[in-house]
Amino acid sequence: MWMSSFGLQSFVNLASAPLIEQAMRQEGKYPIRDHMELWKEHRDRQSLPYGLFIKQGEQWYHLRQALNQRLLKPAEAALYTDAFNEVIDDFITRLDQVQAESASRDLVPDMAHLFYHFALEAICYILFEKRIGCLEPSIPKDTSTFIRSVGLMFKNSVYLTFLPKWTRPLLPFWRRYLNSWDVIFSFGKKLINQKVKEVEAQLQAAGPDGVQVSGYLYFLLTKELLSHQEAISTFPELLLAGVDTTSNTLTWALYHLSKNPEIQEALHKEVVGVVPFGKVPQHKDFAHMPLLKAVIKETLRLYPVVPTNSRIMVEKETEIDGFIFPKNTQFVFCHYVVSRDPSVFSEPESFQPHRWLRKNGTNNHKFQHPFGSVPFGYGVRACLGRRIAELEMQLLLSRLIQQYEVVPASGMGEVKSMARIVLTPNKKVSLRFLQRQC
Ligand code: HEM
Repeated sequence: MWMSSFGLQSFVNLASAPLIEQAMRQEGKYPIRDHMELWKEHRDRQSLPYGLFIKQGEQWYHLRQALNQRLLKPAEAALYTDAFNEVIDDFITRLDQVQAESASRDLVPDMAHLFYHFALEAICYILFEKRIGCLEPSIPKDTSTFIRSVGLMFKNSVYLTFLPKWTRPLLPFWRRYLNSWDVIFSFGKKLINQKVKEVEAQLQAAGPDGVQVSGYLYFLLTKELLSHQEAISTFPELLLAGVDTTSNTLTWALYHLSKNPEIQEALHKEVVGVVPFGKVPQHKDFAHMPLLKAVIKETLRLYPVVPTNSRIMVEKETEIDGFIFPKNTQFVFCHYVVSRDPSVFSEPESFQPHRWLRKNGTNNHKFQHPFGSVPFGYGVRACLGRRIAELEMQLLLSRLIQQYEVVPASGMGEVKSMARIVLTPNKKVSLRFLQRQC
């Protein structure tokens, strides 16, 4: 535990599982992660209502209650299985096309790039029931502009966090940052307006009882859990949250499986034992795939996509290890450090999914500290998309491991992680996909 400061702000950093546990267990009814000043400035300028990441207090709570429905529980996430599988079919077609373009006809030169397109296509389909062409050989112009703007928004926000405000009119970052957000919101707004029109048309044609409630946005709008304006402010943020997170995790998982052929072989056996070649995995199958789940847990332990998280304790004083911190203290949780702490995980730098499996009838990971690896956060403000993210990653990884043997491209070497708001690989992850015989 140590203090640090940045400008006028000071932070209490916690880099131990028991200390993080003490802080998290004291969070109040309406936890605050961060005041999100930079995001707020854009919304205020455009007179947009705040979305889930920015809203605080009771307002956050009400929005979160509405959004939790049809997303938070595993059984609710399972409703999206067919939609994910439809996108996965197209991903595999795209994967084969990319391989065919390589000299060896089995190489994918940049896995993270391909998974990014998959994750965006998948989350758009889940949220809006709309396919946006990310997996087509030539991506539609507004989709590629959206993708570029997301990258620019994140990149420029890093500069803006460090530079003083007076530099904004002089340097290009502020203008680029605001423009990128505008593109992100107009992309989201277009999709939402289309959906609203569809809902209205159905209501007119069939009346409230005739409306088929299927996709997430459709469900929230027709059940009147979310207004049109709330959707416009919230859904673009959900899109952002659902892309880099799953795409980077999938990249790391395949990277380690390619480097550990015995683990990959064991996983292949597990998958085809439950879902033979030619069959498509379903939600219920994962109850019989403990190694698959352990691979994802181990990947997120080594690479928590959100490497540090935080809480501002506004409701009362917080006591950590006998120290009393006043109201409004901001605690930073150093998850990356903790999940590689040798006092919590033995041989922490190595990829060992088996550490999460039951051994001799005991649940091995029960001996590990419960706050050693919390990649989706904790409590009422934990990740909203956890269950769909898990389902999406399970469906895609199992299908890939069922059909291909994945090996590293020659000369790829070791890939390290790099913190760019989320944790990303420091260079391209190039993999070869060898088709397995059925
Ligand atoms: C590997 C996948 C993912 C990981 C590791 C991840 C991780 C996280 C973490 C650590 C937080 C902060 C939680 C806290 O403060 O306690 C968070 C928040 C959030 N995540 Fe995820 N996430 C993932 C995927 C997704 C997806 C697919 C969505 C899509 C809907 C999503 C939507 C959100 C939202 C909306 C929040 C903010 C919740 C709030 O403030 O109430 N996440 N996520």
